[in-house]
Amino acid sequence: MKNLFCLKDLSVEEIIHILDVAKECKEGKYIDACKGKIAANLFFEPSTRTQYSFQVAQAKLGFHVISFNASASSMNKGESFYDTVKTFSSFGVDAIVIRDRQDEYYKQLTTINTPILSGGDGKKDHPTQSLLDLMTIREQFGHFEGLKIAICGDVKFSRVAHTNIEVMERLGMKCYISGPEEYREDQYEYIDFDTAVKEMDIIMLLRVQHERHDSEMQISKEEYHEKYGLTMERVHQMKENAIIMHPAPFNRGVEIADDVVECEKSRIFPQIENGVFVRMAVMMRALED
Ligand code: CP
Repeated sequence: MKNLFCLKDLSVEEIIHILDVAKECKEGKYIDACKGKIAANLFFEPSTRTQYSFQVAQAKLGFHVISFNASASSMNKGESFYDTVKTFSSFGVDAIVIRDRQDEYYKQLTTINTPILSGGDGKKDHPTQSLLDLMTIREQFGHFEGLKIAICGDVKFSRVAHTNIEVMERLGMKCYISGPEEYREDQYEYIDFDTAVKEMDIIMLLRVQHERHDSEMQISKEEYHEKYGLTMERVHQMKENAIIMHPAPFNRGVEIADDVVECEKSRIFPQIENGVFVRMAVMMRALED
C-alpha cells in the first residue's frame, strides 16, 4: 500500500520511475492491469480535470469506480470528513482519491488502512498535477537539468506552484515567480513578467484563485491582462523552443489571451492528456506492497 500525499515524500528516483511508467501507459501498456479492484474518488472541492482524468485512468486500468457526491451524502447530516473517508475504507475499496480544501487534510487520515492519493489539498500540494507537468516538460525537452521556468500569477494561493517549485528545484530546474505583488511569496525569486517572457524555457501561467481569497483582487482584470497577461505579442518574444503551460481552468482575457490558449507553443491540452497517464501510474503504484 502506497499513499500519495505530496511529492516531498518521494525521492527523485521514485518520481522519474512514475514518469517512466506513465510513458508506458501512454504507449498503450497496462490496460486492465487492475481489473477487479475498486477505487473511490472523494472530491470535497470542485474539479473537472483531476476528478475525471482519475476516472478515465481508473477505467483504462479496469478499476470499478465509485464517484462520491458530497452534497448528497451523510455529510449533510453532520458526518465528519474523517468518518466519511473511514466509511469508504471500511467498504473495502482498494484505493481512495481525495481532494479537499483543508491544507494537509491527509494528516487526519494516517490511521486509515487504504491507500490514499491526493487530488489536491488546500493551497499546499497537487502531486498529480506536478507529475503531469513534469511529463509534459520531459516530452518537450528530454531533460529537466538547467531549464528555466517562471510561474506567473497567484503563486501565494496555488498548490500547483508550491508543489512544482519544490520538485522542479530538486530536478535541477531554475524556478522564478512573476505576477502581481499581492500574490508573490518572498521565499521565491521574482522576475519581471516581460523579462521572463524573453528568457524562460517555460512560462507557466496561473489562474487567480478567487475562491481562496478573503478580499477582492487589487487590480482590475483589464489591468491584470495588460501587465501580466500572455498575449500573442508577448508570445512572439519567447525563445524559439520555449513553451506555455497552465494547470487550467484558465481565464481567457485575464492571464492568457484567447488566441494563445491553443497556439503552437501552448502545451495546455497536452498537459491535460498526460494527466490520464500519470494518474494510471500512481493508481498502480498505490496497490504495490
Ligand atoms: N488543474 C486542475 O486541478 O484542474 P481541476 O480543478 O479541474 O481538477
